[in-house]
Amino acid sequence: MLRVRLALITVMLSALACGGDKQSTSTPTSPTSPTNPSGMQVEPLRDAARSAGKLVGAAVQSSLLADGRYSGVLSRHFNYLTAEYEMKWDPIERTRGTNDFRGGDTIVSYAQANGMQVKGHALIWHGSVPSWVNSLSAADLRVAFENHIRAVAEHFRGRVYAWDVVNEAIADDGSGLRDTVFRQKLGDQYIADAFRIARQADPGALLFYNDYGGEGLNQKSNRIYDLVQNLRAQGVPIDGVGLQMHVAASSAPSDMNVASNMRRLAALGLSVNISEMDVRIRDLPAASKFETQRAVYRSIVAVCVAEQRCDGITLWGFTDAYSWIDAQFGADDPLLFDDQYGAKPAYYGVLDALLRR
Ligand code: XIL
Repeated sequence: MLRVRLALITVMLSALACGGDKQSTSTPTSPTSPTNPSGMQVEPLRDAARSAGKLVGAAVQSSLLADGRYSGVLSRHFNYLTAEYEMKWDPIERTRGTNDFRGGDTIVSYAQANGMQVKGHALIWHGSVPSWVNSLSAADLRVAFENHIRAVAEHFRGRVYAWDVVNEAIADDGSGLRDTVFRQKLGDQYIADAFRIARQADPGALLFYNDYGGEGLNQKSNRIYDLVQNLRAQGVPIDGVGLQMHVAASSAPSDMNVASNMRRLAALGLSVNISEMDVRIRDLPAASKFETQRAVYRSIVAVCVAEQRCDGITLWGFTDAYSWIDAQFGADDPLLFDDQYGAKPAYYGVLDALLRR
């Protein structure tokens, strides 16, 4: 009898860790894992985020939403979704003149069904330009650029909380604007133009500039600050700045510097958000790496919790089973849940920060 009860409790805890009744069709997983040996109950991050007045988000891929384990953990813990790539220009308009919104629509419907907000990502980014765009004349690029922003923002109008309108427009070394096809053919004002077109197409969405490497205080964050200050001064409709936060635990910016950077952006009348956080640990000693990762998540999320103008934190994925980091930087475990969806110390770091403890 005792054994039966214990088994029942174990099954109930598994369901809680993985999304409770939302995932009735999937295989229950154990809440215990190599990185969560205690099997403690894993409470929803989204409840903790709500108590802090913040959004807590994850980047997702539409094809994985049908996987009960993936969807169970996602819907239990997050209240904000971003398409990892399906709302970028290349996947939407790989063939000139034909827009494919299926991936984005699937993600938006899923978010609506699960009480989540959506951040559109990203209207203009040099990293996802369809190949046909590169050979256009300046005049044709201007038409394609305007059509793209208008068509996509109008398609999702009323269904997204915010858009990353321009992504990564500052050069890696912070020396000035990045040399992209947009800058070369449309001039520096392409950034202001993108925001104006996006505002017309979806007046209800918050419009963000998003970038990486400028989370703390450095040359790049100074350039980002100059850029958005200029946009504000010209009356360009920009509402906020996303700090990506793809960091290695060993070289993450200090919480003090991230807080100062957020504060100076907020003082321009902008909101801020952490938009793509993941924390690499592959170079750290095995014995302490998960603990170090927990501490980084906790300190950075705590900065957002303490900054009134910080809307929330989005992670670039949530399970180590699916992260862009492995292909980009080498095999790693940069997220909150392990390959088997067990909660890692990193999860507790985020939870503690959201609960201000
Ligand atoms: C990455 C995705 O994770 C990959 O799957 C995709 O192939 C390339 O883009 N900064 C960004 C994100 O703003 O859009 C990038 O996402 C990661 C870096």
